Amino acid sequence: MAERVVLAGPASEELGRSVAEKLGLPLLDAEFKVFPDGETKFTVADRVSGKGVLVVQSTHHPVDQHLFQLLLASHRLSEEGAKVTAVVPYLAYARQDKQFLPGEGVTLGVVAHMMRSVGVRRLVTVDIHSAEGLALFSFPTYSVSAIPSLVAYARESLGLKDTVVISPDFGGSKRTEAFASLYGAPFLQLSKSRDRTSGEVTVRESKLDVEGKEVVIVDDIISTGGTVNAAAQTVMKQGAKRALAICVHGLFVGSAVEILERASVKTIVSTNTVPGRFSQVDVSDAIASHLRTLEE
Ligand code: R5P
Repeated sequence: MAERVVLAGPASEELGRSVAEKLGLPLLDAEFKVFPDGETKFTVADRVSGKGVLVVQSTHHPVDQHLFQLLLASHRLSEEGAKVTAVVPYLAYARQDKQFLPGEGVTLGVVAHMMRSVGVRRLVTVDIHSAEGLALFSFPTYSVSAIPSLVAYARESLGLKDTVVISPDFGGSKRTEAFASLYGAPFLQLSKSRDRTSGEVTVRESKLDVEGKEVVIVDDIISTGGTVNAAAQTVMKQGAKRALAICVHGLFVGSAVEILERASVKTIVSTNTVPGRFSQVDVSDAIASHLRTLEE
C-alpha cells in the first residue's frame, strides 16, 4: 500500500487535521493563497509522487470557491504523481443530480466530470443527498453515514423522553428511519412538497401521533430552514411538547436559525461536515474508519 498523507483544505482545516490524526497520517505541506480579488493559488511544498493524498475539503459557502480549491489542488497533486482521493464531507450540488424541469443543468454531473478531469481517483463523502447521485461519477464513490454519530450524540446529550423521529419528506425517509431504528423510537414521515420555481415548502396535513411528545426532525441538509420549519409547525400545531432539528449538513443560510426558533425549534444539531455554531457532532471517526478500508 502506498504511503498516505492528508491535505486539510481551507474549507475543512479542523476536520482534515482530525482525520489525519485519527489515521496517524502526516499533513501535507501546501498553501492555498487567496488574492484580494478572490482568485486562489495553490502550491505544494512536499514531494507527493507515488503517494496517496487524501484531500479533505467540504464545498459549503462560498461553494464555487471551495469547489475550485478542491479541483485546483487535486489537479496539481495528480500532475505531481499523487493518487488523489477527494474527501468531500459536504458535497455541494448533490441535490441537482437530475433534470427536474426542462432545460436545467445536471450540476452534480458537471462536478463529477470536473473531478475526473483533474485526476481525482475516488470520492468519499458523507450522507450524499441521494445515493442515485453517485451514479454520475465514473470512478469509485463512497457515502459514509453520519447517522450512528448523530444517534450517539442524541443519546448522550439531549436527554429525550417519549420521542418520535420524523422525516420531513419522502426523499430523506430511509436516512431518518435508520436514525429512528438505531435510537429506538417510532418513525413518522411527513409529505412535503416544494414549489420548484419559488422554493416554497408545504407539508400535507395529516393526523400524527405526536401529542405531548418530543419530536426529532431529521434531515440531511438544513439550508434556508424552510423544510424543518414546515415540519416543526405541523407537529407543534398537533400538540408536540418540543421540536428538535437534527441534520448532517447545517448550511443555515440567511435567517434560517431565526425561522427555526420562531417555529419553536430550540435545539438544533448538525455535524462538522460544515463548520459552524451548531456542528457539535464530529464525523472524523466515521470518515477515518471508512478511509482505513480503502487501499491505495
Ligand atoms: C431536500 O430534499 C433536502 O433533503 C432538504 O430537506 C432541503 O435541502 C432543506 O432545505 P431548506 O432548509 O432550504 O428547506
